Amino acid sequence: MAVNRKRDESLKAGILNLLWLVVLSICLVGLVVLCKVLSVSHIHIVFRALLILSLSFLIILLTNFLFKNSPRVKIYRRQAGQFHAFCRAIKQAAGTLELQEILDSAAKIIVEVAGVRGCSIKLLDSKSGEMKAGTIVGIEPESMGVALNAVESLYQQGTSSREPVIVQDIFMRDFPAVNEEVESLICVPLRLEDMNLGAICIFGARGQKLSAEMISLLSSLGDVVSLSIAHAFMYEDLKILGETKTKFMLEASHELRSPLNSIQSIARTLLEGHLGELGEKQKEMISRIDIRANMLSEIVGDLLVLAMGRAELSAFKPKRVDFAKLLQENVKFFENRAEEREIDMELYTLIQDASVYGSEEGLRSIITNLISNAIKYTPRGGRITLRLFESKDQIVFEISDTGIGIPKAEQERVFREFFRASNAKTASKTGTGLGLAIVKAAVEQHSGTINVESEEGKGTTFRIFLNKAKS
Ligand SMILES: Nc1ncnc2c1ncn2[C@@H]1O[C@H](COP(=O)(O)OP(=O)(O)OP(=O)(O)O)[C@@H](O)[C@H]1O
Ligand SMILES: [Mg+2]
Repeated sequence: MAVNRKRDESLKAGILNLLWLVVLSICLVGLVVLCKVLSVSHIHIVFRALLILSLSFLIILLTNFLFKNSPRVKIYRRQAGQFHAFCRAIKQAAGTLELQEILDSAAKIIVEVAGVRGCSIKLLDSKSGEMKAGTIVGIEPESMGVALNAVESLYQQGTSSREPVIVQDIFMRDFPAVNEEVESLICVPLRLEDMNLGAICIFGARGQKLSAEMISLLSSLGDVVSLSIAHAFMYEDLKILGETKTKFMLEASHELRSPLNSIQSIARTLLEGHLGELGEKQKEMISRIDIRANMLSEIVGDLLVLAMGRAELSAFKPKRVDFAKLLQENVKFFENRAEEREIDMELYTLIQDASVYGSEEGLRSIITNLISNAIKYTPRGGRITLRLFESKDQIVFEISDTGIGIPKAEQERVFREFFRASNAKTASKTGTGLGLAIVKAAVEQHSGTINVESEEGKGTTFRIFLNKAKS
């Protein structure tokens, strides 16, 4: 164990220091005796100098020895070691959100810091109220079966306790079965405010008595572990919530699709006069149904794309895609819409090879959503500039417009599902707030990044960074 090893090392260093002292003292005495025996006057000064030097060296060694072995320095050293271990525990616990990793590393550090025989952590199942094994370090669960059973009640006690630490010395009279292996046991409750999370049981080695300061350190470690466990629980809850949301979106959009398709096809059949000629008013009403059904169908389609991206169900079969070509095709597709709104749209391709490894469908949805937003949020007579260029090993797709912009305070939320900026709503532009969420999901699916720069009333620039396909 690390603590024992450190103790052995400092003992060795102490013995070595002592040996040095003995050797030096013998040399000194020898020197004095030699001086007396020879009583040679002309080398007297040399001997005297040697004597002073040796004496000084002896004093230095002695002070060093006394300082290193003073109880106060030992305490400082031990405290520094404990503090170091405590910091390591915090670092490790904060470095992960995986529950098992947190428990394993916490148990290992406790065993190392306290130099105890072993440590086990149990967590309280809030639903069943039972204690469930989390991890066990340093002791074989089989060999310690009796001990673990014997301390079960202590776990319960520890979990419901408000006290930071419960100490129980296990002597023959209390737990005869345990005496062979363990002599003391400490139960640190894992609590976060009013929430019981479980308990840590620390098994002291034979003859080991843990100091009050060590118990207080273990209690603080318990607080750190509790916090990390609570974070891991929250992370688990969020993951489940995310999965439930995705499942709901998938099911809802899927279920909505078929009745919507029927409405669209009935409206089209009526409009095309297959069931007899319609009057002007009837035509107008059915056209409205058709338009609304189409809008609804787009929303449902967006939801489905988003949910599929989340669940990674979309058939993402990566292939080499020429991003420049894809961009050109889509800009052409939007040209008419831009012209209708008297918007000047220019594309500058400043890169030779803009190949990206990914899904053509995903990349297209990035381009179309960004261009359609730029057109939608740019007033008549405005300008849209698209640039494709290279930066290091990435290709950059930049789209700038001279539109309504996004208020500063709302910019960080634009990629969230269903978010629409306040100025977009007041400009009575219709939308669901799903387009940019789809863009972000697609960019991330391609291991890329997206950022936005915008000034309200002046315009917006979106920049997408994608890794270039290796040639
Ligand atoms: N080019 C832009 N200029 C100004 N605001 C923009 C621009 N692009 C996006 N936004 C803001 O970001 C919000 C979210 O955009 P997003 O594309 O997700 O939704 P939407 O356009 O409102 O609806 P839809 O889901 O139909 O695309 C918009 O409502 C708008 O407030
Ligand atoms: Mg949009």
